[in-house]
Amino acid sequence: MDEKKTVKTEPPLLKVRDLVVEYYTRAGVVRAVDGVSFDIHRGEVIGLVGESGCGKSTLGMALLRLVRTPGQISSGQIIFDGEDLIQLSEKEMRARRGARISMIFQDPMTSLDPLQRIDDHFVESIHAHDKSISRQEAIEKAGELFDLLGIARDRLHDFPHQLSGGMRQRVMIGLALALDADLIIADEPTTSLDVLVEAQFLDLLKDLRRRYNMTLILITHNIGIVSELADRVAVMYAGEIVEMADIEPLFAEPVHPYTQALLRSVPNIRLDEELKIMQGQPPDLLDPPSGCRFHPRCPYAIKLCRTEAPPWTEVKPNHWASCWLHVEENENQGGASYG
Ligand SMILES: Nc1ncnc2c1ncn2[C@@H]1O[C@H](COP(=O)(O)OP(=O)(O)O)[C@@H](O)[C@H]1O
Ligand SMILES: [Mg+2]
Repeated sequence: MDEKKTVKTEPPLLKVRDLVVEYYTRAGVVRAVDGVSFDIHRGEVIGLVGESGCGKSTLGMALLRLVRTPGQISSGQIIFDGEDLIQLSEKEMRARRGARISMIFQDPMTSLDPLQRIDDHFVESIHAHDKSISRQEAIEKAGELFDLLGIARDRLHDFPHQLSGGMRQRVMIGLALALDADLIIADEPTTSLDVLVEAQFLDLLKDLRRRYNMTLILITHNIGIVSELADRVAVMYAGEIVEMADIEPLFAEPVHPYTQALLRSVPNIRLDEELKIMQGQPPDLLDPPSGCRFHPRCPYAIKLCRTEAPPWTEVKPNHWASCWLHVEENENQGGASYG
């Protein structure tokens, strides 16, 4: 068990700067991630939220350099533990995937080999990064993790299809923990689970983050599920992060009209308010709106919003947003600090 603490004076574990990811489609270039910058410190859980199609999965895949053709990382930096992942060779990158950064997908079957028993998954992934560990030791480690994950040890002999969806998601977390990954990126990990299993899985994550000082990026279109788990939230809209703040101020006083609309559309968070479905559709990223991309749906849009993109501004201490309505109030613009 790790006793590391989040010390914000330490350099961030992950620094993303001006990241641009594009898909070259027949219809044109889709800029799915458009100039994204943020920092993550060790032990932090970041919720990355936004409507479907806004670029969350592309951003998550880009952090592992797993964007596939027709997509590519066009520019920017991904500084992980001091080195720019974009500059590494594919071989160097492979050594970091899994062992240093792990990704968990909505459907765990995509990452599990249907022909291999669960214990072999553990043995193989442990051996891929450390051959000095014996098979017996690797299985013992998997067993200890199963105790922690609340799965009976004899399920280690099962094939992936014999486990329930919730168990498979636990196995994915277990595989990341077995390798002691520094950063876990979970992309919609509970979307395929039913509500009760989802709640159990979120409780498990809460427990594990305390035990392991886990650094986690939790990607979800459901802002409700980050509310219990995340320390900070990044809100994505049309390929850009439009607001980022600690969870309490973000929920209590969201400054970006998109975040406000997103929060109003969540049941149970603000019971005193009527549930409102957001008007309009997210823009087509082949041809995004000029100025602020949210302006066609924004009830507060002024003329400037239609013509110029708002700068990333520290609206309140550690509370960043890009919205013209919040620019004059504070002069700290352009993002010298991201976390
Ligand atoms: N393989 C692909 N080819 C072309 N466009 C893609 C591909 N994958 C994603 N996109 C586009 O990139 C944008 C962001 O998608 P995605 O990252 O999956 O968003 P999210 O995870 O937030 O739903 C969308 O407009 C989507 O259509
Ligand atoms: Mg997605």
